[in-house]
Amino acid sequence: MNTPIHLRSGGTSLVVAVDGGRLPRILHWGPDLGALGDDALADLQRAALPAIGDSAVTYPQPVPVLPQLAEGWLGRPGLVGDTGGRRWAPKFRDAEHEVADTDDGPVLRTTALDPEYGLAAEFEIQVLAASGLVRQRAAIRNDTAEPYRIDSLELALPVPPEASEILDLTGRWALERVPQRRPFHVGEWARASRGGKPGLEHTLLVVAGEAGFGFREGMVWGTHLAWSGNQVLAAERVPADTRHLTAGEVLLPSEVVLGQGESYRSPWQYGSWGVGLDDLAARFHRHLRSRPQHPSSPRPVVLNTWEAVYFHHDLDTLTALAERGAQAGAERFVLDDGWFLGRRDDTSSLGDWTVDPDVWPAGLEPLVTRVRELGMDFGLWFEPEMVNLDSDLAREHPEWIFDGGHGPGLPSRHQHVLDLGHPGAYAYLFERMSDLIGTLGIAYIKWDHNRYLLDAGHTPDGRPGVRRQVEQAYRLMAELKAAHPGLEIESCASGGGRVDLGVLEFADRVWPSDCNDPHERLEIQRWTGLLVPPEMQGTHIGAEESHTTHRTHPLDYRAEKALWGHLGVEVNLLTADDETRAALARWIAFHKEHRALLHSGEVVHADLADAAFRLEGVVADDRGEALYAFSVVERPSTWPPGRIRLPGLDDERDYTVEAVHPGSAPAAGVVLPPWQRDGVTLPGRVLRLVGIEAPSLDVDRSVLLRVVRAPEM
Ligand code: DGJ
Repeated sequence: MNTPIHLRSGGTSLVVAVDGGRLPRILHWGPDLGALGDDALADLQRAALPAIGDSAVTYPQPVPVLPQLAEGWLGRPGLVGDTGGRRWAPKFRDAEHEVADTDDGPVLRTTALDPEYGLAAEFEIQVLAASGLVRQRAAIRNDTAEPYRIDSLELALPVPPEASEILDLTGRWALERVPQRRPFHVGEWARASRGGKPGLEHTLLVVAGEAGFGFREGMVWGTHLAWSGNQVLAAERVPADTRHLTAGEVLLPSEVVLGQGESYRSPWQYGSWGVGLDDLAARFHRHLRSRPQHPSSPRPVVLNTWEAVYFHHDLDTLTALAERGAQAGAERFVLDDGWFLGRRDDTSSLGDWTVDPDVWPAGLEPLVTRVRELGMDFGLWFEPEMVNLDSDLAREHPEWIFDGGHGPGLPSRHQHVLDLGHPGAYAYLFERMSDLIGTLGIAYIKWDHNRYLLDAGHTPDGRPGVRRQVEQAYRLMAELKAAHPGLEIESCASGGGRVDLGVLEFADRVWPSDCNDPHERLEIQRWTGLLVPPEMQGTHIGAEESHTTHRTHPLDYRAEKALWGHLGVEVNLLTADDETRAALARWIAFHKEHRALLHSGEVVHADLADAAFRLEGVVADDRGEALYAFSVVERPSTWPPGRIRLPGLDDERDYTVEAVHPGSAPAAGVVLPPWQRDGVTLPGRVLRLVGIEAPSLDVDRSVLLRVVRAPEM
């Protein structure tokens, strides 16, 4: 028996069985086990063998990273493919394994063959040094002259039997990322998205954890697929009580057919574990922050025009808006939808990416010049993959619009999808966008994508083009960035429709939701944060009456909820009164003062007993300071709220705690506890275990707590 391989990095151990020419089988994924000698590793493997007789052929344990029917696996299959009804039950073996140390962390590379089928497989399983994340992917190669069609390729990460509850997310437009939990019963809990992007309804992760796990407690393991197209994440528990998390692309019929020597490579499946969800999320945040392309400059405060003016563009109004934005402290002016040829509403013109001469007779230059004079950079909205049938582009190139055999398909928001698999369509988009970026000196693109891909056939033969579309969208982002160094991209997609580690290789932030109502934003940002760190989430201060929910909220609550991410403003500053603009400016100044902490620290959430309350914060890496927000989100049945315990601080050090009010003095609906008069100084352990009395607040009110480590005596 070959000794199992032990990959250790970033606080994570992954022990992988590699004996008998079989595919890798993960024996342990979780906390670092320390250095283990060969004898211990061999015993770890022997100790993991189940007590079953020789006749048991079903559900091999431990489960290989690619489970195979031919080896007795009756659960979700790893690889589904065939050649005209043959070669459908692959059996990869003769595996050879090699471990390499890379700068990113140790990687196990395995090659295996199915000689009868003429197929070869390659696996990479890596533990990332900066984060302790595990990631794996596989490639299948066809070595015969007969085409081999792949229907699905899903890899598996095992979780232990203690993982008895599943958490994932659902949602809809303007209410994305709603958590849902269930027991981890025998069977499959699969979350698929088939709309050509992950979508508003899709889950960012499937998490399995110990009963009752929370943000700070309970072991959890979660998986994510770094892919912006069709996909399925699943938690499966089989009757032999193996539990695992799988991920893979959802492929359309004949979308992947391999000719001789051709390969299909799966996207990376990521796995994160932690003690509580904060720990699990922190690995994703550390991973994103460790990449060379992670935004390193202070995130410029954005003024976005959408909710202020919608499609009503004119130079005087937008110049005045820019001036008011700069006065309030904005550093980036983003001109949203409505600037291009004939775009007066959402019924026409997508695809005609030329500045509208009727609305902008002198082009966008006068606005851009003024924006720069005001010390801001300039961003512009595009929706590159979309087209209205009422556009010059659609009239000139109907063959560039996806068509599965029944025409361009159902409209959604009056739009259809441009097939980037056509070289002409791709070249057109690159030329139009690159020209505008270059001539206007655009620093930032808000990259929208509103319609799902339905019967997205590539003309003229109608073959599915969804997978290719995702690759081409990545390519377009990459080539625009290469041609315009420093260009930043936001992945918007209706707000929250394309949030994944695939697009975040190219995009610098996501727009988590079109909902700027702080009551909803609190939850949307909290759950988007399972994957995305604060500096990559756009968080804007919207109007007093939310445009999506029609609730009203005071500025202080709206601003406090926007404080934590990449801050922006959508309030119409042209109609806002002086006091509102002054308070907004104070919030922006406060954000700038603290954004180094907010955009680099560890995000923490307290597990509070009463569902009416929320407490979350960011703690500096060196635990020298922190900011927390205590919020009331519904009316609790008992009063006052009682004590809140502050997570994440250094147990051994003393901290002073004070309530801060960056916008306006606390108003009606906020009663502060006696300690806030002089602040308190307490050890981190006391703040974690005992806590401090919370302020008494009405619903949708919050108080910020600033915590600073006291100097050592
Ligand atoms: C949908 C986006 O999510 C909004 O923020 C806005 O950009 C509109 N599209 C513009 O049409």
